[in-house]
Amino acid sequence: MELDFVFFYKWVKSNLKIDLEAYKENQLQRRISTVMRSAGVSTLQDYAKIISKDEQVKRIFLDYITINVTEFFRNKEIFDEFETVINNYLVPKFKSINIWSAACSVGAEPYSIAMILDKNNIQQRQKIVATDIDDTILNKAHNGVYKEHEIKNMSKNDLDKYFTSKGDSYYLSDKVKNMVAFKKHDLILDPYEKGFHVVVCRNVTIYFKNEAKNEIYKKIHNSLVPGGIFFTGATESIYNPKDLGFKKLSTFIYEKV
Ligand SMILES: C[S@@+](CC[C@H](N)C(=O)[O-])C[C@H]1O[C@@H](n2cnc3c(N)ncnc32)[C@H](O)[C@@H]1O
Repeated sequence: MELDFVFFYKWVKSNLKIDLEAYKENQLQRRISTVMRSAGVSTLQDYAKIISKDEQVKRIFLDYITINVTEFFRNKEIFDEFETVINNYLVPKFKSINIWSAACSVGAEPYSIAMILDKNNIQQRQKIVATDIDDTILNKAHNGVYKEHEIKNMSKNDLDKYFTSKGDSYYLSDKVKNMVAFKKHDLILDPYEKGFHVVVCRNVTIYFKNEAKNEIYKKIHNSLVPGGIFFTGATESIYNPKDLGFKKLSTFIYEKV
């Protein structure tokens, strides 16, 4: 790694509490160089200086490296499978269902899950915790206000049932908002809670190096109760599920054995 980046990674870890070492190097460094240039500086030393002085520059940097893209029912067909697994598999087996949506971005993912539970009348028996590394997007998640591109996979019925539209914004109902508790959590640096029946962790491990990714999978395994479900992203199927203690239920859904 270039010396400049060695300095910058250390600076970010001690000042912003993010471990960039875990992220794929080429992809991340390209993104950092781009966002640094758009801030009008040409060295990482200068970039660190303006990040520490200017809240907005810091915000843009964090947004850019954490990549918050999301939408309700992302990969709709996999969510349909997930709904079947919940109904046929988890509901008969467990009295209550604790769900963790890790790296939830602005909340579209945990709220999609909340809608599934609501529609299937299992909302009384569940708890959904949703976490992300990024405070600002967690605030947005909490507010539950979305734009057209984020709700494009929603059916007209569900849209009418769960949102009120005003201008170009869609306001999520309190009923669904109240089903999800948001809090800050870093998948690399923070300890993982235990006792979940479902962990949903999608479209974030793609940004991590293999060692970091495997570590996350092991910790998720440890967070699940036996028979619990791990739901991954559409480009994140696990190559060695058996070695990690998982049984594949479908391409993106695994059971802890
Ligand atoms: C592309 S979004 C995925 C959102 C949602 N899971 C989905 O699939 O639609 C990736 C999210 O990972 C979060 N993230 C990045 N690094 C993280 C880390 N070390 N710990 C927790 N979340 C992280 C980002 O802030 C971002 O919100």
